[in-house]
Amino acid sequence: MSPLIALQGVTKTYRLGEVEVHALRGINLEVPRGQFVVLLGPSGSGKTTTLNLLGGLDRPTSGQVLVDGEDIARYDDRRLTDYRARKVGFVFQFFNLIPTLTAAENIAFALELTTRDRAAVRQRTAELLALVGLEDRADHFPSQLSGGEQQRVAIARALASRPSILLADEPTGNLDVETGRQVLRALSDLNRQEGVTVVLVTHNTAIAPMADRVVRLHSGTVASDHMNPAPQEPESLNW
Ligand SMILES: Nc1ncnc2c1ncn2[C@@H]1O[C@H](COP(=O)(O)OP(=O)(O)OP(=O)(O)O)[C@@H](O)[C@H]1O
Ligand SMILES: [Mg+2]
Repeated sequence: MSPLIALQGVTKTYRLGEVEVHALRGINLEVPRGQFVVLLGPSGSGKTTTLNLLGGLDRPTSGQVLVDGEDIARYDDRRLTDYRARKVGFVFQFFNLIPTLTAAENIAFALELTTRDRAAVRQRTAELLALVGLEDRADHFPSQLSGGEQQRVAIARALASRPSILLADEPTGNLDVETGRQVLRALSDLNRQEGVTVVLVTHNTAIAPMADRVVRLHSGTVASDHMNPAPQEPESLNW
């Protein structure tokens, strides 16, 4: 079976006036459906650039970004927008919830972009809240939630369109260890229970043991790529 994601000879060069920054220098990476991948690397190694290309937020300078066998790098803007809306969910370091909407409303708002069926929105909102362990926080506003809880709402929201890929950039970067573990638990559950493929970017090596696979970037290249024979539960991680 062909992989869900295949990066082939991907380069990304940013031009700043006369200066060229070679952010990615030829990335090759295949990710099968359902895998939980941690992308590790020091600051400036190209992690966010890689994630942005996978998410269709940017295009490579050269190479192919194949998702379900289609090269999204060749999509026009309209198809790329459609790709972002349907296939991928994003989670960032800062949660970006709408402050005037409750947890449930933040999720429902995203669902309403995909359907007009109010009953379906209500049901899926409840399902998503349960998936991230926040059934009892549905009516809290973001200011009434802890950082970890806000991030879990953001994860639930990212799943609204039932994406096959979840891209997370330093999702625990702003959290203490305990709340960070809760966020990783939510990501692990949705990976296992809903089969969502997860690519999690971090410079925190302590997160790596929970992944199915750990890919290390260095200076815009893949420095190492290995499978974890026995991924650990998020609760056992320490940093
Ligand atoms: N829009 C841009 N214009 C010019 N250079 C950029 C741009 N975005 C990223 N870069 C450069 O590309 C390289 C890779 O950046 P990237 O953001 O992918 O790193 P990163 O691994 O995510 O780092 P961090 O851990 O600090 O977030 C860096 O040298 C960065 O300065
Ligand atoms: Mg980054």
